[in-house]
Amino acid sequence: MNKYLLSMTLTSLLLLPAISQAETAADNYKTYCMQCHGMQGNGMGANIQDMSVQPRDHTDAKTMSGRTDAELFKVIKEGGLAINKSALMPPWDSTFTDNEIHDLVKYLRKLCKCKHAG
Ligand code: HEC
Repeated sequence: MNKYLLSMTLTSLLLLPAISQAETAADNYKTYCMQCHGMQGNGMGANIQDMSVQPRDHTDAKTMSGRTDAELFKVIKEGGLAINKSALMPPWDSTFTDNEIHDLVKYLRKLCKCKHAG
């Protein structure tokens, strides 16, 4: 194997864990969040006709940059009530590990293309 091939192989091995982690959060979002928060995370999920409080538009950078990562973590883990929001946002602590929730928070930051602006 020449040097170039070797370094390409090493690079792809190093990248693998990062890629599969990102896919897991995206997959989890599709499986567990999309029915309310929508295909693109824009809050237009299939369930919303019957809901008195509308799911957050996760692509809304203005609102999402008003939340800290810790707040996003808490509401995903403990549900809407934990941050004085609607119980229609369910708690996910029995579904996900803390690491998976951290990955979901990172995924939300990708959807909004934003950080906490605090
Ligand atoms: C059954 C419908 C439903 C599902 C499923 C759901 N949500 Fe929600 N979510 C809501 C609603 C409704 C709100 C808005 C609550 C409010 O504004 O009072 C919300 C709010 C949120 C917020 C708070 C945004 C803010 O304004 O601070 C986050 C973060 C969030 N959801 C993430 C998720 C993630 C991640 C998942 C999947 C693991 C998920 N939600 C699944 C209904 C849902």
